[in-house]
Amino acid sequence: MVDSVRYRLTLWYLGVLGLVLLAFSAGVYALLTRSLNQRLDNGLRASLESVATSLTRELTGGLAEAEEIAEVQGLRLAEVEGLVEKEAVHSTMEDFSSSNQAIAVFDGQGRLLAEKAAPGDLHADLPSLDLVPVQSVYIFTLPGSRGSDTEDVRVAVRRIPATTASAPYLIAVAQSFEANTKELELLRRSFYIAIPIALALAGLGGFFLARKSLAPMAAMSERARRISAENLEERLPVANPRDALGQLAATFNELLARLNASFDQQRQFMADASHELRTPLSVMHTAAEVTLEQPRRTESEYREALQMVDAQTRRLARIVEDMFTLARADAGRRPLHPSNFYLDELTRETARAAEVLAVRKRVSVEVSDAAEIPFRGDEGLLRQMLLNLLDNAIRHTPAGGHVSVSLAQFDSAYEITVADSGTGIPGEVQAHIFERFYRADAARSRAEPAGGSGAGLGLAIARWIAEAHDGRLELRRSDESGSVFVASLPASPR
Ligand SMILES: Nc1ncnc2c1ncn2[C@@H]1O[C@H](COP(=O)(O)OP(=O)(O)OP(=O)(O)O)[C@@H](O)[C@H]1O
Ligand SMILES: [Mg+2]
Repeated sequence: MVDSVRYRLTLWYLGVLGLVLLAFSAGVYALLTRSLNQRLDNGLRASLESVATSLTRELTGGLAEAEEIAEVQGLRLAEVEGLVEKEAVHSTMEDFSSSNQAIAVFDGQGRLLAEKAAPGDLHADLPSLDLVPVQSVYIFTLPGSRGSDTEDVRVAVRRIPATTASAPYLIAVAQSFEANTKELELLRRSFYIAIPIALALAGLGGFFLARKSLAPMAAMSERARRISAENLEERLPVANPRDALGQLAATFNELLARLNASFDQQRQFMADASHELRTPLSVMHTAAEVTLEQPRRTESEYREALQMVDAQTRRLARIVEDMFTLARADAGRRPLHPSNFYLDELTRETARAAEVLAVRKRVSVEVSDAAEIPFRGDEGLLRQMLLNLLDNAIRHTPAGGHVSVSLAQFDSAYEITVADSGTGIPGEVQAHIFERFYRADAARSRAEPAGGSGAGLGLAIARWIAEAHDGRLELRRSDESGSVFVASLPASPR
């Protein structure tokens, strides 16, 4: 996959570079073609001008003397003018010297008077003289014959006034495109060679560059492949934390850290859970073993053993039930079943239920009066939350003490407060009491024979219930005079 990214990057790079080079070459080619053609035209124009000037000069010089000569020689003026013109044309042709241009002079009727061919047998022939406008220079292209492979020819023509009697002369100068074609051909050939070489070099460079910049990615994917549940503490290499790849690696590492933490939590949960389950099981096992050691036991001995088994079974059932609740909560599979009820009623009823426990311990439970508070939430879960708090409070309050429950209403929240006059929770322990399986007084509570003592899941469950209702559960205060737990629930949970 990394490899194909490298190839793709290189190909893209080559494609773009190829397009740029092509556009550049085409531009250069077009510019050169234009300037070569312009140069050719300018050359033709200049030649035409100089020929025209010299012809005009010869003609005016000769014609000025024509009358005189006619008189002296006794010839007709037209005859002398004819001779003068011939002479002028002849000498102009003699004077004209160009290595690559042909020249021709035609009379007013289009008859060729004189011509001088350029090397390569180029003649300044004209297809039709009617084409040529009266004034100024006229330039056009004569297509070469493809069959004999001759180049196109550029021709410039111009009229020159002759004697007053005859129609004006026509001068034509021609030059082949051959030199231009050769120069352009050379340029094309150098493009054919240079562009592929440039592309090859760029492709090679691009490929190595892509490989170099993708190397950290390859290293990352190699390392990531080796990371599994067993070595989640390993991290991806971060080559440069400021670049995109470095940030990707850092983000991935953060994900690994979170995964690792949650795996640790799961492992801890498993370890704690099996530890908690082992105790009641071994108590039951011992009770059964001891009882069965003797072939015969009295009824009260059997009864005692069964009572022990019964208590431990109840304890087991409670722990398993609590674990199940938390496991489903973790998996998000314990949906709330909301219903409408009165919060004050729920508080009173739960406190009354807890009183059964309290009476046995000679602890009093008081509920402060509260106005009717209609509420929408999961009644069963909220009852369990309050019961867990009351259970803790009663269990940690010595005989003669008291537990109070109160309900208060604020703008957007209700607060249920459970306060006891118990032993309090030591400062260093307070931070942990909401953790799963955490018990500050583990040794003592496990030693309690009755099913009353739990596994340290009560507060974890209570907090989850509060949070599931978008609320909070916290220990507000705890010292030698007792502890105060406060659950706050928003008036209208989502
Ligand atoms: N009102 C309280 N007074 C003193 N200590 C408390 C009080 N509430 C909780 N604790 C301490 O916090 C610990 C955790 O309480 P939690 O309710 O989670 O577990 P538990 O009561 O031991 O077991 P479970 O609730 O599962 O039966 C308790 O073991 C106890 O040490
Ligand atoms: Mg508890």
